[in-house]
Amino acid sequence: MNDEVLIVGCGDIGQRVARLLMASGRDVTGLIRSEESAAPLAEAGIRSLVANLNDPDDLQKLPGAGGLVFYFAPPPGGGITDPKVRTFCAATTGANAPKRLVYISTSGVYGDCGGALVTEETPANPQTSRAKRRYDAEQTLQQWGEAQGVEVIILRVTGIYGPGRIPVFRLQDGHPLLRLEESPPTNRIHADDFAQVCVAAAEKGAAGEIFNVSDGQPGTMTEYFLAIAEWVGLPRPPQISMDEAKKVMTPLMLSYLTESRRMDNRRMLSRLGVKLRYPTLAEGLKASLPQG
Ligand SMILES: NC(=O)c1ccc[n+]([C@@H]2O[C@H](COP(=O)([O-])OP(=O)(O)OC[C@H]3O[C@@H](n4cnc5c(N)ncnc54)[C@H](OP(=O)(O)O)[C@@H]3O)[C@@H](O)[C@H]2O)c1
Repeated sequence: MNDEVLIVGCGDIGQRVARLLMASGRDVTGLIRSEESAAPLAEAGIRSLVANLNDPDDLQKLPGAGGLVFYFAPPPGGGITDPKVRTFCAATTGANAPKRLVYISTSGVYGDCGGALVTEETPANPQTSRAKRRYDAEQTLQQWGEAQGVEVIILRVTGIYGPGRIPVFRLQDGHPLLRLEESPPTNRIHADDFAQVCVAAAEKGAAGEIFNVSDGQPGTMTEYFLAIAEWVGLPRPPQISMDEAKKVMTPLMLSYLTESRRMDNRRMLSRLGVKLRYPTLAEGLKASLPQG
């Protein structure tokens, strides 16, 4: 395989992955949309390429042909398809196709599972438009992978938290939380652990394989915010019923609270041999926030 690595959508997770790869001597290019996003890459010593995934002309002769690509750019904000992924796939065929691609999807593609344990064998059942766009991207990449002989590996990741990604502002703004008893189970992963999962998936995943990615410690969204409040020394927000929440919470927040799953991460641990640095929220928060 060509030694060059291309990270399409080199934002927070992409930069964490790039740092791990560069530490092991790999040659990495990060693709971003805007010139402003090139500055943090330059600071981290990551070569950048400014290109818009919506513009086929920008995607001629991408680095990564015959090599490894991480595709981390999110789908657009509306609709039920991912045109960016389609444009990327159309531009990377034949000699321009990579050998292997790791895609970040979300656990949202499973839809509401009524709190049940979700394995990679659980059928996808995307219900929100956001989840449908992700599932469309997964399917587009899988079909392209089969047609072009690209080994596509899909990571269905849960909520990502870590330094710079803790929603302290929600607590400072006094947003209410859903009552603890009504708050459904959900899952998380620390951003640095997720980055090492991405690298391990690229090294050990097989063509067509799907991995659930989570720390394996389900908790509720309310528990998550209460733990952050305690850690930073902010007052515990008021708790409200689901009926009240439907009146005051944003549709996005409500969509997180009306789907419930417990992600099974055993395939990730056993097949990829990942040793989590932050297997619990308490350990992960400690590494993400200064104590209040
Ligand atoms: N937050 C969560 O808990 C969660 C859960 C599951 C999955 N995810 C997904 O995980 C992935 C990585 O997350 P992240 O935090 O690293 O995201 P991020 O920091 O927002 O990075 C996304 C990157 O994609 C690039 N991008 C977006 N649209 C583009 C376009 N049209 N053309 C070229 N580049 C484009 C952005 O470039 P610019 O900076 O130049 O715009 C940015 O570098 C995302 O797909 C995210 O949706 C997140």
